[in-house]
Amino acid sequence: MSANNLQIAVLGAGNVGAEVIRLLQQNHSDLAARAGGNLVISKVLVRDLKIKRSAKVEFTNDANSILNDPKIDLVIELMGGIEPARTYIKQALSSGKSVVTANKALLAKHGAELFALADEKNVDLYYEAAVAGAIPILRPLRESLVGDHVTKIMGIVNGTTNYILTKMSETGEDFQSALHRAQELGFAEADPSADIDGKDAAAKAAILAGLAFHTRVTDEDVYCEGIAKISDVDIKVANALGLTIKLLAIAQVNANSKNLNHKSICVRVHPTLISQKHPLASVREAYNAVFVEAESAGQMMFYGKGAGGQPTASAVLGDVVAVARHRFSGGIGPKESDYADFKIEPISESQTRYLIRLNVADKPGVLAAVAQEFNKHQVSIQTVRQYGAGTNAELTIMTHLAKESDLSATVKDLAKLSVVDDVASVIRVEGEI
Ligand SMILES: NC(=O)c1ccc[n+]([C@@H]2O[C@H](COP(=O)([O-])OP(=O)(O)OC[C@H]3O[C@@H](n4cnc5c(N)ncnc54)[C@H](OP(=O)(O)O)[C@@H]3O)[C@@H](O)[C@H]2O)c1
Repeated sequence: MSANNLQIAVLGAGNVGAEVIRLLQQNHSDLAARAGGNLVISKVLVRDLKIKRSAKVEFTNDANSILNDPKIDLVIELMGGIEPARTYIKQALSSGKSVVTANKALLAKHGAELFALADEKNVDLYYEAAVAGAIPILRPLRESLVGDHVTKIMGIVNGTTNYILTKMSETGEDFQSALHRAQELGFAEADPSADIDGKDAAAKAAILAGLAFHTRVTDEDVYCEGIAKISDVDIKVANALGLTIKLLAIAQVNANSKNLNHKSICVRVHPTLISQKHPLASVREAYNAVFVEAESAGQMMFYGKGAGGQPTASAVLGDVVAVARHRFSGGIGPKESDYADFKIEPISESQTRYLIRLNVADKPGVLAAVAQEFNKHQVSIQTVRQYGAGTNAELTIMTHLAKESDLSATVKDLAKLSVVDDVASVIRVEGEI
């Protein structure tokens, strides 16, 4: 690095990379003034050199020409995927380059080795754009809330699924038609499985939980259930009860971990019923939001655009300026800690409330038989409602707080009852209702 120039390489010039390059060039003088020196794009790595690109920069398809170039100070990784991104980031860190990335899939799987390498080499590894696009949430967790104890995070961190659930709720569309509409409007990929199955949200949940609870969490630690089974009937019932269904990434200190020295956490992604009055219920369409509860700060919500080239580039550039400031002043910035090393409980140990819909025979004794199964597994019922009659009778049962393993055992036994035709759905419930 020359005294006043930070040499940057960008790996990837797709949706996000192209915007990062454009904004670095367009806002050059502002960014230089804020960073304390010029941010100079040396090279940009792409796969296909034949694609016509508008940016006036040097493109290459030879990663080594970047990774082996000692003049490059900062590598911005915006290719996505696990390999070769992981190898390139490791090579960059090993040779003393700082790294900014938006790659949630990679960090949720291999974060620990990358953070350890950045530590060893005394360089920055930042990734604000990896969770909830433009929304500043990782820096607040890492820095602003580091003096507090975060107790729970609930996030709408996948715009595609939030768009689909919003349409189902507001127009009465079923899942397939809402998905089709999301694809037509560009809110869902041609292959939307990572979004629909909750895998994308699970990677983000792992990253959020790791920062909030000072513990290494990987995507494999996260229980994950997508939205494909949510029916238009579930949505109608939720609306009738003053509730709404959101795909939430939830990370919390377990309610039953009383001993502060043996605290455990649970990290899960699943469709969740929340009150229509909860701040997260107002997050519509493809917007994202992260609701944080901390011991002293209380409740906070971070809201904004969770994806898109330009919004995501804003978060990337925030990291780039932060790294540049550290480089120009000599040193590195704040990093996450993993000292707490909380035990990560399996979903079977988590506690929440549940809404269960049963199709039942409409005859005397049904309620008693159903209640007995709940009683047997010590799951306490808060309310029971019956809709319909005859062959269309449906029971909607809201439980009090129950342990997941007890609830699963209850549902298994309910399904065996002769008076129960079908367990139509089981959806977890969070917050005051
Ligand atoms: N898009 C969003 O809204 C968003 C939001 C938050 C986070 N992110 C994250 O940001 C990252 C980039 O996403 P994106 O949407 O910008 O992806 P994208 O549009 O698919 O762009 C990927 C870029 O990387 C290049 N590339 C891919 N594999 C390569 C390889 N093996 N060697 C060299 N170049 C390679 C591609 O080159 P070619 O152009 O030659 O094909 C392309 O320029 C991902 O980690 C994603 O999860 C994206």
